[in-house]
Amino acid sequence: MSITPVPRVAVIVVAAGSGTRLGAPAPKAFVGLDEHTILRHALRGVFEGPTAQVVVVAPAGREGDALTDALEAAGDARDLATVVVGGTTRQDSVAAGLRALWGDIDIVLVHDAARALTPPAVFSRVIAAVAAGTDGVLPVLPVVDTIKRVAGSSVVEGVDRSQLAAAQTPQGFRRDVLEAAYAVADREYTDDAALVAAAGHSVTTVAGDARSFKITTPDDLERARTTLRPVEPSRATIERDTPAPRIGIGTDVHAYGHEGTLWLAGLEWPGERALAGHSDGDAVAHAIVDAVLAAAGLGDIGTHFGTDKPEYAGAHADAFLARTRSLVGEAGYRIANVSVQVQANRPRMSSRCREAEAVLSGALGGAAVSLSATTTDGLGFTGRGEGVAAYAVAMLIPA
Ligand code: CTP
Ligand code: MG
Repeated sequence: MSITPVPRVAVIVVAAGSGTRLGAPAPKAFVGLDEHTILRHALRGVFEGPTAQVVVVAPAGREGDALTDALEAAGDARDLATVVVGGTTRQDSVAAGLRALWGDIDIVLVHDAARALTPPAVFSRVIAAVAAGTDGVLPVLPVVDTIKRVAGSSVVEGVDRSQLAAAQTPQGFRRDVLEAAYAVADREYTDDAALVAAAGHSVTTVAGDARSFKITTPDDLERARTTLRPVEPSRATIERDTPAPRIGIGTDVHAYGHEGTLWLAGLEWPGERALAGHSDGDAVAHAIVDAVLAAAGLGDIGTHFGTDKPEYAGAHADAFLARTRSLVGEAGYRIANVSVQVQANRPRMSSRCREAEAVLSGALGGAAVSLSATTTDGLGFTGRGEGVAAYAVAMLIPA
């Protein structure tokens, strides 16, 4: 046979085994890996590339299931699919596949359905090597383990692993070579490469792939299923990729000494001495603004509400807090909670703490606000009644 410039390739996928070692209730090829069977996975990619025919060799009675998988994998190339029934041995099944080949096929690849996760690149390598003029091509992996020849439990000798290779499929052949070798085969060979070599043809190797491992035992099945399972991100990855909550601290101090009534914690306090300041001197609101901005890494109150912003002259807590909330919102955060403590002799805050919390929370878009107050036992400027200090901590969470 002369190989045409664009050789026509058939892939025989042998799937007629019962899977004795797997021990599943169904023949091995129809065991599910995910929502798809082993056979369906094995056929993935087989219809792509230069394939002119795909012969699926099925167990007797499962031709319909095999055809379903084949047509699903074929997509638009459904005309390329042929299903035949296999034989008692793998060799018989390959022979059945060979009998179903169309007349114009030049190159035949024989592939185990059980090697369900074989990457398409392996098919390409095998086809290219046969098309380049080799009788037979075998994908192999180097043997990594140290190999021993043993007799029962005794070690006889070491075997030089550099001379060894693990054989995989798809194995590719010129069609005439494979058919001739099958015609003269008078015993069972472990694979097609061995059968072809025994008939006097040369077989060369190309690189196989670890993913082409054969699903033989329940452990292999688990390995294949694990390979296909979507990778759950590890806890470390989640923590790295998820923006963390952020906290910030803010403090403010104002001296008494302004005209008018006191504004503190968003409330007006009739009869109390007012605090001095560019705005209303509300140290509680200002400490909260600093804490929230610090948590978001957005600077401080001077950055956004400095004396260069006349619109905030005389402004009350609601204006500062609403603007602060929208600044951190633009930065991708939501204010989870704010805790603020006032140090002052006056006003006596405890009776209005809940009222103040409601006002501050409203201005912050519903963030939980807790407010407490303390005196300093007569010590420091607050103890001497010179002014008010406020300390705030804010927690932001990614919006
Ligand atoms: N095969 C086949 N016909 C057979 C025996 C095997 O088509 N009579 C196929 C299997 O379906 C499989 C491939 O040859 O895709 C490799 O064989 P193996 O992994 O041994 O599968 P089984 O023979 O099904 O498994 P077991 O030997 O454990 O029974
Ligand atoms: Mg077998």
